[in-house]
Amino acid sequence: MLERLPELFEKSFGKNDKEVRKYFSPSRINIIGEHVDYNGGQVFPCAIEIGTYGLARKNDDMVLRLKSVNLDAKGEITLDPIEYKEENDWMNYPLGVCKFIKEAGYDIGGLDILVYGNIPNGSGLSSSASLELLIGEIVNDFYNKGKISKKDLALIGQKTENKFIGVNCGIMDQFIIALGKKDHAMLLNTETLDYSYFPFDLKDNKIVILNTNKRRELKDSKYNERRAESDKAFEILKTYKPSMTSLCDINKDELDLLDKITDPIIRKRAEHAIKENHRVLEATEALKAGDIEELGRLLIGSNNSLRDLYEVTGPHLDSITKHSNDFEGCLGARMTGAGFGGCGIAIVKADQVAAFKEYVGERYTKDTGLKAEFIESGIDDGVRRI
Ligand code: GLA
Repeated sequence: MLERLPELFEKSFGKNDKEVRKYFSPSRINIIGEHVDYNGGQVFPCAIEIGTYGLARKNDDMVLRLKSVNLDAKGEITLDPIEYKEENDWMNYPLGVCKFIKEAGYDIGGLDILVYGNIPNGSGLSSSASLELLIGEIVNDFYNKGKISKKDLALIGQKTENKFIGVNCGIMDQFIIALGKKDHAMLLNTETLDYSYFPFDLKDNKIVILNTNKRRELKDSKYNERRAESDKAFEILKTYKPSMTSLCDINKDELDLLDKITDPIIRKRAEHAIKENHRVLEATEALKAGDIEELGRLLIGSNNSLRDLYEVTGPHLDSITKHSNDFEGCLGARMTGAGFGGCGIAIVKADQVAAFKEYVGERYTKDTGLKAEFIESGIDDGVRRI
């Protein structure tokens, strides 16, 4: 398909003498640190080699002309004024990015853009953040000479979700897609936005992405509800520890504070966030020490917590991670991303990957009637012109 994009571009938008440029924006997996990025916690994601491609050319009409190869959909929307409209559907993402680039004091202008993604649909690998950063990079390159920092592009992407689309997501997805580094995972402190890279060397093991093929839509999911529950937990705990600025500010030796939360649901949510945050640092230590078995155990701990305390897994993810973790050559598997369907990840002994897929695939289909997809992808750089 990639070779056909220039021809499709011409077919969609016609030919002229303006330059057509090509871009790639990755998708992401999160190794560990789930549902803590809106609680000031640490996350440990990687950008991956599948993602969203864009071909773009300037136009003089102050409109975005967009064509999605995947959806076979085409549209034209004005950039003056910029308004959210339900009928703009997926094009609201590019529109929102332009709105907030402009609000930040940068330039925007007309563009014809062909978009093609190889991220499985609804898989929870952040196709929307990938699209946001793609558009941000294109506008930055064509109209701002690359002046907007990658970090600001990430914040603009998040703002698009929060203030234009209505999903109260954290910063993790946009940040790793903006600033990912080949063969490295990123440790990101979501409170300060300080980050560092860790070589992602799993020795004789591989990461396998487990796509449940159970579609997940953040807009319809309980994502915003979980976020509100976390905010509630924070408010309660803050009365006991006034210095805290986010839920993840509770140290390991302060876990008794959880008993102050009387509502069992809110307490469970807080317990997940606080312990998950600690697990992330343990995971980076394990990786640094080359202790992949320990990393695997931490993944399992994270998954159990997301299933039992945060309750964001559901039957499809539970089935695929259970069978993965039952397989002897799997060091650890867990859901990744928002949950409620979508994808998991597993660390599997490299020479047992084929047997793993067969073992898990068969059992998953038996449980759910769906066919799982197993994706092996390298770890990639962040968004860029190619
Ligand atoms: C989604 C959101 C992220 C993060 C994860 C859960 O991917 O976009 O901000 O909250 O869920 O860790």
